[in-house]
Amino acid sequence: MRDTRSVERVGEDEVTRESARSRINIQDVHERLADLVLGGPADEVVDLGAGQGGTLVEVARRSPRSRLTAVDLAADALAALSTRLPQARALRHDLAQPLPLEDGSVDVVLSYNTLECLLDPPALLTDIARVLAPGGRAVLGHTDFETIVVTTADRDLTRRVLRTYAELPVLYRHMAAADAQMGRRLPGLVRRSPLQLDSVRAHTTVVPSLSEATTARLAEVAASVRRSAGRGLGHVTLAELEEWTGQLQVAEAGGDFLFSETAYLVTANRASVAIGPVP
Ligand SMILES: C[S@@+](CC[C@H](N)C(=O)[O-])C[C@H]1O[C@@H](n2cnc3c(N)ncnc32)[C@H](O)[C@@H]1O
Repeated sequence: MRDTRSVERVGEDEVTRESARSRINIQDVHERLADLVLGGPADEVVDLGAGQGGTLVEVARRSPRSRLTAVDLAADALAALSTRLPQARALRHDLAQPLPLEDGSVDVVLSYNTLECLLDPPALLTDIARVLAPGGRAVLGHTDFETIVVTTADRDLTRRVLRTYAELPVLYRHMAAADAQMGRRLPGLVRRSPLQLDSVRAHTTVVPSLSEATTARLAEVAASVRRSAGRGLGHVTLAELEEWTGQLQVAEAGGDFLFSETAYLVTANRASVAIGPVP
């Protein structure tokens, strides 16, 4: 992972990498996550880094009796979630600290696109194992930001733009770290944790046109790269970035445009070994 001590941060008014993604309603990954959450007992479901509740809304729609808890540090995201899901308990909490949840109290811990924000993801996985009930499950998903594919005429420029976005030289708020490869690293993190790995899936979103969704997603990518280029960070200049955004339109007009990105979805369960200090 990059040395995040040297990166810059955006102000409190900035969105997170995922909130822009949620706005464009790439909904299918939340549906796949909800499938996994509801693949077993799910009376108590906790979403760590719930944001505005993209996945919890889908869980609630299909399983109205599940008791839902949303954990996040962002008060505005939790407020938006409470408007969408008034029945969910909203907990403002820093995931770098131990979870404010009882041992063995949760059926499913869910977390999507949040582990990369933390300096110590293994510590959170250990705490997830603590709060899971016997037979409880973890559903962990993460976009691998190095899997983003965009077709334009200038292959090298596209590589450099996407590399700058993946490396995220200027962090969004509430991110203490960034790891573009968190998706592919999830299975290994789980194997080295007190959790037992059950399954690993890849979920690729493919959009072969410059639709409203891909326009919004790539505007978010460009905005992030612009913040970095404006500070002389990353692998492109501001002028090259503007050239690249023009190339997106050209690719669309010529029938060449394609966008895709892949998230990895991992399920795990609480291992039968003792967790924490042995009496
Ligand atoms: C990329 S967003 C994912 C949101 C949501 N899971 C979704 O699928 O839309 C990451 C979320 O993690 C939250 N977050 C980041 N670091 C955090 C921390 N240390 N403690 C609690 N929440 C944190 C952010 O506020 C943000 O809502």
